[in-house]
Amino acid sequence: MSDSAVMAPPAGRSYEKVLQILDLHHRDRTRLVPILQAVQEEYRYLPEEVMTLVATSLGIPAAKVYGVATFYSHFALEPKGKYVIRVCDGTACHVKGSQDLVDALTASLGLGGARKTTPDMMFTLETVSCLGACGLAPAMVVNEDIHGQVRPEGACAILDGIRRMEGL
Ligand code: FES
Repeated sequence: MSDSAVMAPPAGRSYEKVLQILDLHHRDRTRLVPILQAVQEEYRYLPEEVMTLVATSLGIPAAKVYGVATFYSHFALEPKGKYVIRVCDGTACHVKGSQDLVDALTASLGLGGARKTTPDMMFTLETVSCLGACGLAPAMVVNEDIHGQVRPEGACAILDGIRRMEGL
């Protein structure tokens, strides 16, 4: 029985895509980082059982895969929402009121404490140290879309626009 047959796929997906990614990279262990990037694009995070499958397929310890995944901050070990909102809290954005954005979005999304993702898995709210768009401070990114000089009411309007689009 193959590894893919014995492990239940996460969130209703099969491991076929992971196996394709591994094949695409010729199961080359030196390609571990791009393999994990491609897996994350597929799942939006790195499920533990998939990291184990990657380790087994590459013939390396699972601890090494986990170590790489935790070393690079752009890898996520927990599932994220469909829309990942990153509010910059770097120096330029902080002095221009980024905390007000975080507070407004936190309240609008009903988040707080350790909870970063809404229960319906639609939104994840994070802060980052600099988006490289300091001239647009305060700045935030929704998935790939950057928004500059955002006020709290503007941030909430962006959320409302997404909710309307999603029929929420
Ligand atoms: S400090 Fe916010 S984009 Fe650089």
